[in-house]
Amino acid sequence: MLKFPERFLWGSATSAHQVEGNNINSDVWSEEYADGSPYADKSGDGVDHYRQYRTDIALMAKLGLKAYRFSIEWARIEPEKGFFSRSELEHYRDVLYACYEYGITPMVTMHHFTSPRWLMRDGGWSNPEVSGLFARYCEYVFQELGDLIPYALTLNEVNLPIMLREMFINFDFMPPIGIDAKSWTAPGWRESAARMCGADIEHYFTFHMASDEESLQHVKDSHVKAREVIRRCSPSTKVGLSLALPDVQAIAGGEENAEKVWHSYYRQFLPILQEDDYLGIQNYTRERYGPDGQMKPPDGAELTSMGSEFYPEGLEGAVRKAAIDWKRPIIITEHGIATEDDLQRCHYIRRGLEGLHAAISDGISVEGYLYWSTFDNFEWIFGYSSRFGIIGVDRTTMERHVKMSGKLIGEIAQTNGL
Ligand code: BGC
Repeated sequence: MLKFPERFLWGSATSAHQVEGNNINSDVWSEEYADGSPYADKSGDGVDHYRQYRTDIALMAKLGLKAYRFSIEWARIEPEKGFFSRSELEHYRDVLYACYEYGITPMVTMHHFTSPRWLMRDGGWSNPEVSGLFARYCEYVFQELGDLIPYALTLNEVNLPIMLREMFINFDFMPPIGIDAKSWTAPGWRESAARMCGADIEHYFTFHMASDEESLQHVKDSHVKAREVIRRCSPSTKVGLSLALPDVQAIAGGEENAEKVWHSYYRQFLPILQEDDYLGIQNYTRERYGPDGQMKPPDGAELTSMGSEFYPEGLEGAVRKAAIDWKRPIIITEHGIATEDDLQRCHYIRRGLEGLHAAISDGISVEGYLYWSTFDNFEWIFGYSSRFGIIGVDRTTMERHVKMSGKLIGEIAQTNGL
């Protein structure tokens, strides 16, 4: 048996907007309802997790899982600028209590893509004040709940806007939420979304658009300020952020391209990570670069239901590459696959973990693995048809059904090995 380090955090992850339902004060909700919206579905009631969190957490514990990563929603805690909702704060206190009742270690993300609508009236992530506003929200939460939160992630995938831009350039892919405001002219639906936020298009600047140097700096500042505030309010909380890290590979002649991409996805963030307690790595596949840039998956490669290459070994590759520059603990905060075939998911998890185990055996400090995602949930523009979950949900009755992969991760968690 391949044994993992003691006290390894085994679990799964979600984000508020994707599971809770009715996140009506967020920018993404506006995008779903905008005229001409590219979203395949509306998030609606989500998977009713806002109501069912207690039985959901009980179910995770029954499976044998030991940790749960979820996000606190800024748009709920601060639905209008400067108004902090006590009642929403108490909701999340109850979620945290439920974790403790069932012996689950909570990990809390403070920002998982969605922002409050009012922020768009202020220029969103293009406004230098965003970092102070974000830190103020974090302070409100951590003053009250900090002692219940052992692990915090300030922001999810601060590098995602850069990856979206990369995709756009390489595959002529129209990104869902816009990329670089300066280089990309917004189509009408974004104007409509802006209006729904009470903003105009000049001010409408969501997190996903923060790929130019200036707005990216605001994202970086937000991390640093939030970390300071969290440390001050709750010194025992371990703080970090998460990065989307595909295994970036060079094919003969593509070394320089791959290096450039790895710098933009990873190395450029190292200065703001230096005081973090751990690094959250999120991996789904690999990206291959040749002399002419990013390449499509090899002919005949097995694909996921979203068309990306089935490549569980990418987890090991990404961790090994990141560890060249990062010598402190790593937690895998996401690793997952969209598929209708749960057996494929089981293979993906096993093969991913075999590679992770090899990296750990070579001395890389990895302290946990959180599969994405706990449930089949709202996959942003792709709606509810992309299924990542280890637990399926019938969205008419909101009944949960555990998949084979859920049992697999539960067993792995219980034996702490493969
Ligand atoms: C995000 C999730 C998303 C997942 C699958 C990650 O980039 O953090 O919100 O659902 O990928 O696409």
